[in-house]
Amino acid sequence: MAESTSTIDLTFGLGGRVAVVSGGASGIGAAVASTFVAKGATVAVVDLDEAAATSTAEALGGQCRGFGCDVSDPESVTAAIGAVHAAYGRIDVLVNSAGIALLAPAEELTATAFAKTLGVNVTGTFLVSQAVGRHMLAAGHGKIVNMASQAGSVALDDHAAYCASKFAVIGLTKVLASEWGPRGVTVNTVSPTVVLTDLGRKAWEGPKGDALKAQIPTGRFALPEEIAAAVLFLCSDASDMINGADLLVDGGYSIR
Ligand SMILES: NC(=O)c1ccc[n+]([C@@H]2O[C@H](COP(=O)([O-])OP(=O)(O)OC[C@H]3O[C@@H](n4cnc5c(N)ncnc54)[C@H](O)[C@@H]3O)[C@@H](O)[C@H]2O)c1
Repeated sequence: MAESTSTIDLTFGLGGRVAVVSGGASGIGAAVASTFVAKGATVAVVDLDEAAATSTAEALGGQCRGFGCDVSDPESVTAAIGAVHAAYGRIDVLVNSAGIALLAPAEELTATAFAKTLGVNVTGTFLVSQAVGRHMLAAGHGKIVNMASQAGSVALDDHAAYCASKFAVIGLTKVLASEWGPRGVTVNTVSPTVVLTDLGRKAWEGPKGDALKAQIPTGRFALPEEIAAAVLFLCSDASDMINGADLLVDGGYSIR
């Protein structure tokens, strides 16, 4: 057997890296930001809620800073990512966690709600990936993780717009992985089951959530920190051969 010459960092360290986390002021994004800081990264917290982004960044400490941005608006994305790059001179990691869930039975869902969901979840993921990806391609390296969902692989009632958006995020991610992998930038998705955040609680509290939970083999919903741990792995050097993958963190919900 050939002797291993591997120097893989099994502590998943991010020392010296600059990470952009969209939606970083709340929920999964905030958990990702604090996990990254614990592993040595500096985080640019990018969020629609600029005040929350700034206070989250202040609590993270170091050189972390908050940036206001509507990810669905091309001009806002150009300005925010330009400001991040001007502040730090590099972007090594991007996590697209900004997202919304507007739920209704398909026959009642408004065109406005459908378009808004795709605007934030799909167009937003594309615009921020493109703006950050250009810097990563110029540098010849980068790691991008997009938050998809179990709703990107299976149908959930009342989730017509949300499922359409998350199936699209997985497709978009595979194309970016194919185009940018050869130039040093890997792109993957993480797909949680229900996570106990504002968004997750609002969508799944009550008997509907209890019924879903009963179908999850591990018998519970996920914690934001558990999603952050999966994201950390995919943003570390240990995952360099993982590209275009969808990592389900769903307790096995979607295998049934
Ligand atoms: N919580 C869950 O159950 C769950 C499950 C699977 C996937 N997800 C996905 O994970 C991601 C994060 O969800 P969460 O539970 O942390 O939600 P959350 O509501 O706690 O946080 C979302 C953040 O995104 C920001 N945001 C919303 N619209 C934005 C916009 N246009 N521009 C910039 N920022 C914007 C919000 O201000 C907020 O800070 C989303 O993409 C969501 O679809 C969540």
